[in-house]
Amino acid sequence: MIVDHDVIVLGAGLAGMRAGLEAARAGANVAIITKVHPIRSHSSAAQGGINAAIAEDDTWESHAFDTVKGSDYLADQDAVEIMAREAPADIIEFEHMGVIFYRNEDGKLGRRAFGGASLARTYFVGDITGQALLVTLYDQILKAGVKVYEEWFATAVHMEDGACRGLVALEMITGELHLLRAKAVIFASGGLGRLYEPSTNALICTGDGYSLAYRAGAPLMDMAMVQYHPTTLAGSGFLMTEAARGEGAYLLNSEGERFMKKYAPNKMELAARDVTSRAEATEIAEGRGIDGNVLLDLRHLGPDVILKKLPQIHEMALDYLGIDMIKEPVPVRPGMHYQMGGIKTDVDGATRVPGIYAAGEVACVSVHGGNRLGANSLLDTIVFGRRSGRKAAEYARTVTASGGGEDLLRREKERLDELMSRPYTGETCAGLRLELATMMDEKVGLYRSDAGLKEALQALHGFRGRYANVWVGDKGRVFNQALTFVLELGFLLDCGETIIRDAMHRKESRGAHTHVDYPERNDREWLKHTVLTHRGEGQEPEMSYAPVTITQWQPEVRTY
Ligand code: FUM
Repeated sequence: MIVDHDVIVLGAGLAGMRAGLEAARAGANVAIITKVHPIRSHSSAAQGGINAAIAEDDTWESHAFDTVKGSDYLADQDAVEIMAREAPADIIEFEHMGVIFYRNEDGKLGRRAFGGASLARTYFVGDITGQALLVTLYDQILKAGVKVYEEWFATAVHMEDGACRGLVALEMITGELHLLRAKAVIFASGGLGRLYEPSTNALICTGDGYSLAYRAGAPLMDMAMVQYHPTTLAGSGFLMTEAARGEGAYLLNSEGERFMKKYAPNKMELAARDVTSRAEATEIAEGRGIDGNVLLDLRHLGPDVILKKLPQIHEMALDYLGIDMIKEPVPVRPGMHYQMGGIKTDVDGATRVPGIYAAGEVACVSVHGGNRLGANSLLDTIVFGRRSGRKAAEYARTVTASGGGEDLLRREKERLDELMSRPYTGETCAGLRLELATMMDEKVGLYRSDAGLKEALQALHGFRGRYANVWVGDKGRVFNQALTFVLELGFLLDCGETIIRDAMHRKESRGAHTHVDYPERNDREWLKHTVLTHRGEGQEPEMSYAPVTITQWQPEVRTY
């Protein structure tokens, strides 16, 4: 099948649906392609809340400054200002759409504290905030008549005369490949968390959009900046929301000490995530951990707070570890959570490639720089989802439909047929994916070194060689996840390579990028973005730089 739309959005999480809604409001014929049902998108896993300076004692400048400081001064301050200024109206709009945010005893929107913030500015729905926003937004896109290609998997970008004009996608239920032409494509396909093991991310977070856009010519920026969340559940790596600490939970070492007093005496457990994760890792490395974990202690909050405001994590700890956090502390450790880098965009989601827009985690605007503040990711999705939807629709009005793409569709069919017909070589996708993800966690995780990164790149080259032999075990057409897992592994390899190369290049420590051979931040040489551009199969990407936009906050020593 070949179909035409004005704007296609890849991904139906918060950024994707917000972009689709806005593009439809601007009069575009919009379709969303998503490999899962929209309300199964990973935005539904965001727990603790969304930031905005709504309260009378707060200001957008304070929100922006906290974000810039949190980013270790790598965020672009013009973009951060836009996000902080536009946050209140966007959140109120969601309330009007039907999201039932928590309200306090006075009937006003209630807020909770989050890490790195000068005051409590996180608005929430228990510990299911992402899910609440997502289901509400899904209603809205249905109402707006946005077409959703649900359980369709994008395999390639349709380019014509240097511009993006659509996608090829696999309809998973039939196994048919289709060409979906468009005047603009918005990549809102979420993160790449499954490149790491363990990760808080859903199995669907496989970096599809980074790889597809990068190969189509859109540069990736600051890919080294991979966030480890301080509180992921021992064993599984599931998220134990920062809201627990926002409500007052403590972090304890094996000696029962609130160790954050040594690392962040002012903010304690509510320091920025990079600081808290490194503090935990230090405690564990120095022998004050408990089986590779520290403890998250909520007992003093009491059953009322835990069951009313944190019911989901209470249930998760009970289900997965048999621990009732009302009575016992929960073992947690830092785990991969978020990619701050991504497809380089301007503040309206536009990239260097005409017709390619990006929003949400896959994009790098850049509002998170070297380290994202908790509860700024949901905000990023709705502010920049909205802005990119509007711009993509405006751009689409300037483009005349050009057709084409049949050749690409044929080549993609041949490529997938070749993958399906490979003989069994003993190389399985699951095995390779686990080796890759374990390697990334060990060598490109919380701490990096020159030697470790060199080994990581060599390992990645080895994985690429083995990928060429990977076997698709299911030979059927219908919902062939053996096939889509192999395609996802290809995306993950591209993401891994760009992260490793970017980390090798940045000879300093900043935000989430802690380089043991260069332990200090070096503003003189590295207060700049690093940008990777694809040069072709098998070739080293081109590395270039972009300046960091500073509006009003000069870099300072960062303490909490
Ligand atoms: O801890 C959390 O609830 C995560 C929120 C976020 O990453 O923004």
